[in-house]
Amino acid sequence: MSAFNIAVYLSGTGSNFRAINESIKNGRLKSKINLVISSNNEAGGLEYAHSEGIETAVLQRNDFADSRSFAEAQLKLLAEYQVDLIVLAGYMKKLALPVVRAYKDRIVNIHPALLPDFGGKGMYGMFVHQAVISSGVRKSGATVHFVDEIYDNGKVILQQSVEIEAGDTAEALQKKVLQVEHKIFSEAIALLEKAE
Ligand code: GRF
Repeated sequence: MSAFNIAVYLSGTGSNFRAINESIKNGRLKSKINLVISSNNEAGGLEYAHSEGIETAVLQRNDFADSRSFAEAQLKLLAEYQVDLIVLAGYMKKLALPVVRAYKDRIVNIHPALLPDFGGKGMYGMFVHQAVISSGVRKSGATVHFVDEIYDNGKVILQQSVEIEAGDTAEALQKKVLQVEHKIFSEAIALLEKAE
């Protein structure tokens, strides 16, 4: 049993970040969130982090001369905040390769479908739910998995499915899946804590 120093990476609303933080506050997780890294300064997750007294950094590729200095800035911050688990919670960018390599088996992501189906390049956000609905399958869900060098390819830690009912739109499916995401992301981190 162990606890992690987490860095949450996000780009948007941050509802998964909020769910994880709530699990920490109510004692279901032992880990703590040392830092939030956002890919843009308008992410709603930043405001929530501030209200919770969690430190934040906005790191945008365009602010750096090249991809190497962008990755180095991240690695420096992660070391400074003693991060030993990276949690991608709606991070809409591809994580820099040097970070993926430095944190091998220490990066988890949540994907809003049942991987290996409906994953890979271009499968993010509403695109996923639209593809699921168009395909006519009767089930979708959420997957928490390790991150490696290939999109949505790492080992699955936890999955939970939801039923798709006749008439469900992509938006309706997104809402159902998000509820499951909020539950299983914390559960997956708890499993990792136990495995340590
Ligand atoms: C979630 O659907 C997650 O699966 C995907 O991005 C979305 C983030 O939502 N990777 P939020 O910012 O946590 O509300």
